[in-house]
Amino acid sequence: MAGRIPPEFIDNLLSRVDVVDIVNQRVPLRRAGSEYKACCPFHDEKTPSFTVSPSKQFYHCFGCGAHGTALGFPMEYDRLSFPEAVEELATSVGLELPTEIAFQQGPDNRPLYELMDQAADYFSQQLRQHPESARAADYLKQRGLSGEIAQTYRIGLAPPGWNNLLQTLGAGAERIKQLETIGLISSNNGKQYDRFRDRIMFPIHDTRGRVVGFGGRVMGDDTPKYLNSPETPIFHKGRELYGLYEARKALKDIPSLLVVEGYMDVVALAQYGIRNVVATLGTATTADHLEKLFRSTPEVIFCFDGDRAGKDAAWKALETTLPLLRDGRQARFLFLPDGEDPDSQVRQHGKEAFLADMQQALPLSEFLFNKLSEQVDMTTLDGRARLVSLATPYLKKLPNGVFRDMMNQQLARLSGTPVMAKKSSPGGRRRLQKGARPMPMKPVHRAIALLLQYPELATQDALPQEWRQLETAGAVILKQLLEILQQNPTYSTAVLVERWEDESIRHHLGKLATVDLAITGDQAEQFHGCLHLLHKEALQEARRPARNKLRPSDLTEEEKNLLRQLYLNKKSD
Ligand code: UTP
Ligand code: MN
Repeated sequence: MAGRIPPEFIDNLLSRVDVVDIVNQRVPLRRAGSEYKACCPFHDEKTPSFTVSPSKQFYHCFGCGAHGTALGFPMEYDRLSFPEAVEELATSVGLELPTEIAFQQGPDNRPLYELMDQAADYFSQQLRQHPESARAADYLKQRGLSGEIAQTYRIGLAPPGWNNLLQTLGAGAERIKQLETIGLISSNNGKQYDRFRDRIMFPIHDTRGRVVGFGGRVMGDDTPKYLNSPETPIFHKGRELYGLYEARKALKDIPSLLVVEGYMDVVALAQYGIRNVVATLGTATTADHLEKLFRSTPEVIFCFDGDRAGKDAAWKALETTLPLLRDGRQARFLFLPDGEDPDSQVRQHGKEAFLADMQQALPLSEFLFNKLSEQVDMTTLDGRARLVSLATPYLKKLPNGVFRDMMNQQLARLSGTPVMAKKSSPGGRRRLQKGARPMPMKPVHRAIALLLQYPELATQDALPQEWRQLETAGAVILKQLLEILQQNPTYSTAVLVERWEDESIRHHLGKLATVDLAITGDQAEQFHGCLHLLHKEALQEARRPARNKLRPSDLTEEEKNLLRQLYLNKKSD
């Protein structure tokens, strides 16, 4: 990460999201008293030990020890980096990212985004103002699109001619170079010209709403029918999805997303009020696409032409999807009649019929078993055994979980063979023994844990102060925590934890925020007790012989160990 994310921004962000919502979007939660519960998404279990606390804004699994905040959850569950998780959450609540943050390593691409945006403005302006814009407007009308939808998707016109854009935006060598970098102009024998000419322009937005590329369609029968932006530093076809930004903007909850092939399919369905639609950009759906989709919705519905090529493409999509189908995620397949696409389909049969088709899309499990069953003779024992050997490699690609277990059972039913459904192994984490006694904790850790779990302790009167001379890493954090809480008494546990930039400290604090303190009696008393113990530690520290005055031979073994530890602590400070 190039820029540091200001802690105030993180505070603000966490105050706008609810960890219960964030988790619930991915793992359905059930209320249990003042908390929420689910089977842990991070390890295999049958009874729920994963809890989410709305008051602490924290989740914690008593089974495997996973824990974290509304930011930590997408990091762990969606495998996002910290800045990515910040970006994702900020976008979801419409919070503008601080401009000084350059999220990506390497060069500053802001001028490129800025230029893309200006190009999109230019094209949409041309659609209204260019002398030949009537032809473009007619074309869109003839395809059934209203001005409103054109505006929503920022559809534009690249006018005929070789250098309209170049002359409008290409002032100076630097600009020209940038326009070339983002694929808006090409050059031939040292001469530059507009890449997109006489085409209807579809801007492609990333999830943050920045224009990263364009697709341009001819209005007649020229070829290529569609011209897309090339791969550039800010545009990667295998990662972007046309319409995702617009769908997320239009819909608060997205129960499913339909993946179609064409720009026109997206806008035509939008025209009919079906907004949960995205298009890949002339490529097959990639794992990156799917990760992105599943961050916005629990269900992806792939839409394909029902012909041979469509079926093949669907099977490819299935193979890409399998490893990503954790519990809570679903995929289905919608096959349209031969030669139809969503655009033609919705125009012929209308919105309701199309929605009904979507509802009846084939679940992935059926598509998989149907297709494999076709390849064997299910009426014979041999054929059914062969089904098992055909299906097993696919089922193995599924992540551990209930869905995988169910698929194995389904295979057993279909084949009439008890499939040795290997019990999915628990995740990489060490399982805590049920009923195990909590580990004895160092006073400083216990004090921090108490403070994180009962923030109000920071603002009581007459807190012991003598321990403050202690300079260990833990004591320093404790001091900072107290200070933050005294200034901001309403901060939740989550905000406190995310305050720290250092990943390992956050992790450690997260553990302390959820550790079972097995408190009997008064928390305030306990907190004071810890601080007194720390004071004692400080006194001992002060009495300890100064390090440099002693030769190693003068030290006992125990003292040597102590020194080593001190040294290590210092290093990790
Ligand atoms: P189709 O050829 O199916 O076109 O391309 P379409 O979406 O039905 O478009 P209309 O209805 O004729 O306007 C599907 C997608 O494949 C990519 C584009 O992303 C397009 O939306 N494609 C197609 C290209 O990139 N280049 C092409 O020449 C054609
Ligand atoms: Mn079409």
